Amino acid sequence: MNEITDVRAREIIDCRGWPTVQVDVWVDGIMAGRADVPQGRSTGTHEARVLHDGGNRYFGQGVRQAVSNAMGEIAEAVLGMDVTEQRRIDQVMCELDGTPNKNRLGANAILGVSLAVARAGAEVCGLPLYRYINPLSRVLPVPLMNCLNGGKLTANELEIQEFIIMPVGAESYAHALQITTEINEALRELVIEKYGILATNTGDEGGFATPMRGIWEPFEFMQRACEAAGYRAGFGDDIVYGMDCASTHWFDKDRDVYVLDDTDYDRDALIDLYKQVADKYPLGSMEDPLDEDDIDGFVKVTAELPQTQIVGDDLFVTNVERLKLGVDIGAANAMLFKVNQIGSLSEALDAAAFAYRHGYGVQVSERSGETEDPLISDLVVALDSGQIKTGMPVRGERTAKHNRLLLIEEELGTTATYAGHSFHRPG
Ligand code: PGA
Ligand code: ZN
Repeated sequence: MNEITDVRAREIIDCRGWPTVQVDVWVDGIMAGRADVPQGRSTGTHEARVLHDGGNRYFGQGVRQAVSNAMGEIAEAVLGMDVTEQRRIDQVMCELDGTPNKNRLGANAILGVSLAVARAGAEVCGLPLYRYINPLSRVLPVPLMNCLNGGKLTANELEIQEFIIMPVGAESYAHALQITTEINEALRELVIEKYGILATNTGDEGGFATPMRGIWEPFEFMQRACEAAGYRAGFGDDIVYGMDCASTHWFDKDRDVYVLDDTDYDRDALIDLYKQVADKYPLGSMEDPLDEDDIDGFVKVTAELPQTQIVGDDLFVTNVERLKLGVDIGAANAMLFKVNQIGSLSEALDAAAFAYRHGYGVQVSERSGETEDPLISDLVVALDSGQIKTGMPVRGERTAKHNRLLLIEEELGTTATYAGHSFHRPG
């Protein structure tokens, strides 16, 4: 019958040492599925609520209340349900919470149960998670490797959060990792040469946290590193570049200007700067180029950079209602997919399906506060999305995802396709 017989939860820590939720779902008396909840630091205003305890413990960031919600009220509601009824279970939890943003029980409590239910469902069916969600899965994603970190994810002064290489010309996921590491080693040498060894310490997602400023220098370094490692950057070549500008976090709302490298840019001047970058370098993907509430600006930037995928992260927050607003007017052409922004697996998958129906790409993403749980690797393959942002292949919480994708590539064998140049909408 696959009946949920127990839900257990606990407080664990993420890669920064902050508390987060882990949930176990038991089926017919046996522990069948476990999942960890990731958490962001560079978060969007419109994300579902992460329930924190307040008080002194962990400076208020404890999650004991979310844990007790998962084991108490939520468990009571889902006990006895068939674990393979994912949508129904997610719906019951959302109704139980009763608020639009999961304010009452916490998105961290609900998502923990939702993901552990998915794992348990796959387990009782004897299938790997990606195949349980989509038996026809076959696409291995292009990894977006953020080799130079800034913004809220490091202690440097680089405003733009992520400068990214995308190994689109690789033959496989395994090959993509090889290319990345070779370029990263070349980059390390260049960084040491100019800034010294201390500048090769890494940020939260594994990229170097250097004293670079502005937008041009990081591109120059990535370009030189590609050349030094023997790879060509260009559309149709080995590498294209990407950025997560996370610009909400350096937008001065009061003065209505973006402050980049001590210079003020209004929206049009900033778009113009992005165009200059895209004229000089193969810019394959750009996330959150403008403030999360400037949806009209997103329409403009999408129209003016026709070769660049424009991704909405803080803009859409994996929320179908926000995505609808964008799709109606042509704001961005891809959605970042972060399960904890919305707080249940079904809702996140619905947002991805909506994006696909409207010709948008879907980029599955880590949070900066990850654990060793590689669940998003299964999700990116299940979605055939063609693109994943899960940090450089260093640090355990990032390598867990890359190594899981290597295993999936091996399991799929000759049925696997590497998304490569068609990462935006693999066919
Ligand atoms: P976050 O950062 O997980 O801290 O939100 C990642 C991103 O902005 O894409
Ligand atoms: Zn982002």
